[in-house]
Amino acid sequence: MTKIKFFFAFAILTLIFACGQSDNTPKADGAAVFKTNCQLCHGADGKLGLNGAKDLSASPLTEEERVQVITKGRNLMLAYENTLTADEIAAVAKYTTTFK
Ligand code: HEC
Repeated sequence: MTKIKFFFAFAILTLIFACGQSDNTPKADGAAVFKTNCQLCHGADGKLGLNGAKDLSASPLTEEERVQVITKGRNLMLAYENTLTADEIAAVAKYTTTFK
């Protein structure tokens, strides 16, 4: 009996832990990633627009769509899938939504 109770307590704890882990807030520092990789074309405030780069403060794209553009690239915008980790891309995409 005690063994079974112990098992359930353990199962519940594991569940709580798993839920805590699955919150998808990126761990990387989006601002730092932006400064090193994106500022050159997009500017510190996202508005520079060098070489036809889009004004990120006026972008209608959702966070997921931004992740897509950053990961796969588009026209003159480079793909970052080999340069940044998925977490860094998520963090920098989130950061670009703060320019509004
Ligand atoms: C070499 C210059 C350059 C760099 C560096 C660059 N971009 Fe871009 N970016 C562009 C250009 C050009 C476009 C417009 C692409 C198009 O014409 O479809 C763009 C478009 C975008 C868009 C889509 C905006 C929209 O409204 O359609 C996002 C989001 C974006 N860039 C984010 C980033 C992030 C984040 C980084 C850094 C990881 C980055 N860019 C680095 C040039 C650059």
